[in-house]
Amino acid sequence: MADPANVRCVLVNRPKGVAQAQDFKLVAGDAPEPAQGEIQVRNHFLSVEPAMRGWIADMNNYSEPVGIGEVMRALAAGEVITSRHPDYRPGDRVTGWFGWQEIATVPAEKVVRKVTESDLPLSAFLGILGINGITALLALTKVGQPKAGETVVVSTAAGAVGSAAGQIAKILGCRTVGIAGGAHKVRACLADFGFDAAIDYKAGPIDAALQASCPDGVDVYFDNVAGTISDAVYRQLALRARVVVCGTASITDWSDWPSGPRLERILLRQRARIEGFVIFDHAADYEDAITRLAAWVRDGRLTYREDILDGMAACPDALAGLYRGENEGKRLIRLVQT
Ligand SMILES: NC(=O)c1ccc[n+]([C@@H]2O[C@H](COP(=O)([O-])OP(=O)(O)OC[C@H]3O[C@@H](n4cnc5c(N)ncnc54)[C@H](OP(=O)(O)O)[C@@H]3O)[C@@H](O)[C@H]2O)c1
Repeated sequence: MADPANVRCVLVNRPKGVAQAQDFKLVAGDAPEPAQGEIQVRNHFLSVEPAMRGWIADMNNYSEPVGIGEVMRALAAGEVITSRHPDYRPGDRVTGWFGWQEIATVPAEKVVRKVTESDLPLSAFLGILGINGITALLALTKVGQPKAGETVVVSTAAGAVGSAAGQIAKILGCRTVGIAGGAHKVRACLADFGFDAAIDYKAGPIDAALQASCPDGVDVYFDNVAGTISDAVYRQLALRARVVVCGTASITDWSDWPSGPRLERILLRQRARIEGFVIFDHAADYEDAITRLAAWVRDGRLTYREDILDGMAACPDALAGLYRGENEGKRLIRLVQT
């Protein structure tokens, strides 16, 4: 049987800052037959993560950079079409490190999870029941440790991780304040994701609005952005506040190390704690997290939005678009209409 045709999106330049469309190229070819221990997956959805900026950069990250000429590293969700591994059969729904391509021929170890929940959409396992929801739940509870009645502030609050973090904090009995870019995103925070207050950082300095919406200070700051937005939140930290450093979306390039205010005095005075979180350190907790998240999705307490682009042609500009803030919810590229 002829090998199936495959379009891949490969990295062709190592940019300074966020990769733009011209830093990728679409390449047509055939998908090789799987060897023993490998499976072949037809990707239905490709994930787009802000973290891809770091995966491409050759400095200051927690993983090896994607090589020039390599398929862009990405999580994806799809269906097994051929298997030479005893644990997988054609028709199995899986998520894993399958890359920005139509068909992935990969060792079975690249699978993150077999998706057996037939009542839930496959795409959700890349977002609210995947990297975004799991990060929101584990980072918030393990690092932020919010208690009922506390005030939790979340940046990128209308995005995939932020909207989940805000809703989970609310489920845990907290008061929630979201920070997002633009009036439409503020509306989504309030109307769709149940934040008690939401602030548009693009409308001007946020200090006064933060003070008004957090009269007793900020107990937990779930930080997805760093930079000047976070500087303003630090100024409002409550006594014994916890800051979860989950992302640094506002700093697009770490090669010229940005400077900012010194935080030591605030941390000392407020006996506050800052801790970084990387989801990949917590693989042992994924299943429990998915069980909790899925229960909330099923009973309607946890909602999510998806920002879906169609076709491989959308890949090259998809990451840059995320950094232009054009996504409303989890950004995905759909390759198969189901
Ligand atoms: N640590 C981990 O293990 C882990 C895992 C997953 C994700 N994350 C992090 O979580 C954060 C959110 O990820 P996501 O997948 O949910 O993406 P997202 O929030 O759905 O999309 C990214 C958002 O970042 C915001 N943004 C872009 N450029 C910005 C800038 N210059 N200043 C401020 N905000 C900017 C935009 O929202 P606005 O329009 O509101 O500005 C954009 O919509 C990212 O920092 C990501 O790296 C961390």
